[in-house]
Amino acid sequence: PRCPVTGAVSERAAAFDPFGDAYQADPPASLRWSRDEEPVFYNPELGYWVVTRYEDVKAVFRDNLLFSPSIALEKITPVCDEATEVLASYDYAMNRTLVNEDEPEHMPRRRALMDPFTPKELARHEPMVRRLTREYVDRFVDSGHADLVDDMFWEVTLTVALHFLGVPEEDVDTLRRFSIAHTVNTWGRPSRDQQVAVAESVGKFWQFAGTVVDKLKADPSGDGWMPYSIRLQKDMPDVITDSYLHSMMMAGIVAAHETTANAAANAVKVLMENRQAWAELCADESLIPNAVEECLRHNGSVAAWRRLVTADTQIGGVAVPKGAKLLIVNSSANRDDRHFDDADAFDIRRDNAVDHLTFGYGSHQCMGKNLARMELRVFLEELTTRLPHLELVPDQRVTYLPNTSFRGPEHLLVQWDPAANPERRDP
Ligand code: HEM
Repeated sequence: PRCPVTGAVSERAAAFDPFGDAYQADPPASLRWSRDEEPVFYNPELGYWVVTRYEDVKAVFRDNLLFSPSIALEKITPVCDEATEVLASYDYAMNRTLVNEDEPEHMPRRRALMDPFTPKELARHEPMVRRLTREYVDRFVDSGHADLVDDMFWEVTLTVALHFLGVPEEDVDTLRRFSIAHTVNTWGRPSRDQQVAVAESVGKFWQFAGTVVDKLKADPSGDGWMPYSIRLQKDMPDVITDSYLHSMMMAGIVAAHETTANAAANAVKVLMENRQAWAELCADESLIPNAVEECLRHNGSVAAWRRLVTADTQIGGVAVPKGAKLLIVNSSANRDDRHFDDADAFDIRRDNAVDHLTFGYGSHQCMGKNLARMELRVFLEELTTRLPHLELVPDQRVTYLPNTSFRGPEHLLVQWDPAANPERRDP
C-alpha cells in the first residue's frame, strides 16, 4: 500500500514500527530522522500519518475541529471476532467521554466538570498525597532496595486517583490488571490469544465501573469528581449522560493513575541517569517544580496521541486528505531542536520546559495536569529528602508495556545504603 494521496512512501516511513524495539526503547530518538527530514509521513502498515515536529504537533492539537479527537481511544489494532464476542458478553459499550468527544458536545461538558480541578480544590488533596507517599516510603526505607513501580508509584497514584474520583478504594491489584488490559486494548498490538484475555479483563473493568456508578447514584452526596458529576446530571441530563458517566468511570481511573505512575517512574529514572541534577534537587527543593516539567518534556508518560482529519488540509506543507488518521508523536515534538535548545539534553533549569506537549494542548488539554504535577512534586520532595543516596540497580533491563502511547518502565529497581538514611542519622 502507498500513501492514498501522493502514492509515495519513503523506505524509512514504510519501516516505522511503533511496536518495534527502537520506538519502545526511546520514541523521540527513533524518530529523529523524521524530525530532520520527513516530519509528516504516511505509514501503510499502521494506516496512519505520523507527525513529529513541535510546531506541527501543536498546530494539530490546537484545532480540534479540523483534527477531531474522536479516534483518541480507538483500538489501534483491529480486534478479532472472538475478543469482540467476549466484550459483547459483558455488554461492553464504552462511549465518548471528554478526551475523544467532538464539539459542540465537548466544551459544555468540560466547563461543567471543571470545578473540582481548580487550584483551591486540588490543594485539599495535597496532605493526603504527602501522607500516602510517606507511608509507602516508610515501608521500604530501612530495607535498602525497592521496585519503585510495584512498591510505590502504582498504588499511590491509584489511591489518589480513586480518592479524587470519589470511588471507594478497591482491590488495587485487580484495578492495576484492568488498567493494563485497557492500555493494551487501546494502544497495543496484542496477539489473537492475548486479545481474548485482554477482552475478559476489559469486560470485567466495564462491569466494575457500572457497579460503582450505580452505587454512587444511590448516594451521590460524597466528595470527588464522579459524585460531583452525578449531582450535576440532575440539572444537565443532556450534557452528563448515563453513558458518559459509565464510560468516564472506566476511562477516568486509567487517565488519572496510569499516566501519573508512569510519569513518576520516568522522572526518577531520568534523574538517576543525570546524577548532577538529582544532587541539585536534593540540595534545593525549590528547583523541583521546573524539574518536574523537564522530566515531563524529556521523558513524558504519553508518547503519542491521535486525531482524525475532517477536511483536506496541509500539515507542515504536506497535503493530508480528509479521513486521514494521525499519530501525533508529542514525545518527539518535545525533543525538537527547533523549539527546545539542545533538546536531547536534560536540563532542570530549562526556561521553556513547561512548553512541552505531554499534556496535549488547546481545548482538550489534560484536565488533571495540575493534580499530576502536584503528585510528581510531592514524590520528588519526599524521595530527595529521605533517600538522597538513591541509585538505580546497575545493569537492570528496563522494559515497557508495548504500545504506542502510555509509556513508563514496568519496574524500576533502586537501591541505597539504609545506614546512611538522613532521617535515621538525624531524626
Ligand atoms: C486528557 C496526559 C494525568 C484527566 C489528556 C490528554 C493527554 C493527557 C495527552 C489529551 C490532551 C489533548 O487531547 O490535547 C496526561 C498525563 C498525565 C495525566 C501525561 C500525568 C502525568 C491526568 C490526571 C487526570 C487526567 C491525574 C484526572 C484526574 C484527563 C482528562 C482529559 C485528559 C479528564 C480529557 C480532557 C478533555 O478532553 O477535555 N491527558 N494526563 N489526566 N486527562 Fe490527562
